[in-house]
Amino acid sequence: MTTRKALVINGPNLNMLGIREPAIYGSNTYAELVRICREAGAAAGFAEVEVFQSNHEGALIDTIQAALGRFDGIVINPAAYTHTSVGILDALKAVGLPAVEIHISDVDARESFRQVSYAGMACFARVAGEGLQGYAHALALLAHKLDEKSRH
Ligand code: DQA
Repeated sequence: MTTRKALVINGPNLNMLGIREPAIYGSNTYAELVRICREAGAAAGFAEVEVFQSNHEGALIDTIQAALGRFDGIVINPAAYTHTSVGILDALKAVGLPAVEIHISDVDARESFRQVSYAGMACFARVAGEGLQGYAHALALLAHKLDEKSRH
C-alpha cells in the first residue's frame, strides 16, 4: 500500500477544454481531464491525486508552495504561463518536488513563442502532444521517479 500523493496543476484556459479550439485541444471537457487524472493516478499507485486549475499566476504559485510537505510530486500544465512565468519556475525550484511538465498539444510544432518553457527547466520530464491521455503518461512517469527515489 502506498500513501503517495500527487498534485496536478492546470493553468489558464484549461477550464475551457471542450469549448476552446477543439481542433487543437480536442472536444473532451475539463471534468473528463479530472477523471483521467484520478483514474490514472490510482493505476500508477497514488493514494490521492488532487487536481487544481486556476487562471491566475499567483494562485498557481501559491498552490505550488502549499504542496511542500503535503504532496510527493507535481504534474503541471502551466498553459500560457509556461512561456512567460519565471515566478512559476522559481516556485517549482523553491519546493524542489519532482515535477513533470505536461501539454495537451504538441507545443514544439506550434508558434515559436510556445517553444520556450520556463517551468520545464524545473521538471525532470516533459509530455506533449498526447492529448488528455498525456496526463496519465505524466503521472506514470512521476510514480516511476518516486519509485527510483525510494530505492536510493
Ligand atoms: C498548452 C499549450 C500552451 O502553449 C497553451 O498556451 C495552453 C495549453 C497545452 O496543454 O497544449 O493553454 O499548455
